[in-house]
Amino acid sequence: MIKKCLFPAAGYGTRFLPATKATPKEMLPILTKPLIQYGVEEAVLAGINTIAVVSGRGKRAIEDHFDISYELEHQIKGGSKEVLLDEIRALITKCTFSYTRQVEMKGLGHAILTGETLIGNEPFAVVLADDLCHNDDKGVLSQMIDVYEKYQCSVVAIEEVPMDQTNKYGVIAGKLVDGTDDTYRITDMVEKPDPKDAPSNLAIIGRYILTPDIFDILRETKAGKGGEIQITDALLEQAKQGKVIAFKFKGKRFDCGSVDGFVEATNWFYDRMKP
Ligand code: UTP
Repeated sequence: MIKKCLFPAAGYGTRFLPATKATPKEMLPILTKPLIQYGVEEAVLAGINTIAVVSGRGKRAIEDHFDISYELEHQIKGGSKEVLLDEIRALITKCTFSYTRQVEMKGLGHAILTGETLIGNEPFAVVLADDLCHNDDKGVLSQMIDVYEKYQCSVVAIEEVPMDQTNKYGVIAGKLVDGTDDTYRITDMVEKPDPKDAPSNLAIIGRYILTPDIFDILRETKAGKGGEIQITDALLEQAKQGKVIAFKFKGKRFDCGSVDGFVEATNWFYDRMKP
């Protein structure tokens, strides 16, 4: 059973400056809902209600969002706008939220290690809220939990990307698991390779199921590409023992950490909303 979901949310979000100067990237809205709320909803749909957030300086708005605002509640009670709070109220009721701070932004791997204190010694999900995923049938995290239950090892979500974009992602090499067309056992992975060095065009996106031995590996992982502690490097250690599955999920993913992806997501969700 996966009971906890970690949200690394300490990054500076420099691609959205100046919007992210005093506002967390994870709080930027697609229509009326902040990115991180979409991620928490996906986790809840996957049966997870323990939410752990790695935050940082200037990120307090995330904590306030997942809390009751008594003044506001009082102000709109009984009015037509009250319904607008239904979804967030439901999340606050269903979930527990805990927070820890990453003091130095030393990369995603370091952020995940910072979250150990909230996760403990059990397998857990990781959602990068700026990768917004949607599938009508079954959420991406739900699909990944099914895969985890079958293989009982770490699982990363992958997507085919244009070859000239491999330098934006962790890229895998792997062998299709017999009898599947969407499940690979990873043999190698490279962080942000130039297209000429990329082992494939199968890119890791911001959804992971990790087994807790990842923490010990991360403690030993040296800073890699960009001077940051990379989760890809730690996963490679697990992959060497055949213990990482890559899963080509069903659904859409928007890279809302980039302006183009953010606009695309906004338009897509707006079109769906129209009667
Ligand atoms: P990104 O590289 O996409 O986020 O990290 P960023 O650094 O905030 O964005 P830019 O490139 O400056 O615009 C992927 C995820 O990892 C988290 C980020 O918050 C994001 O969710 N992260 C990254 C941390 O929590 N800590 C870090 O030190 C680095």
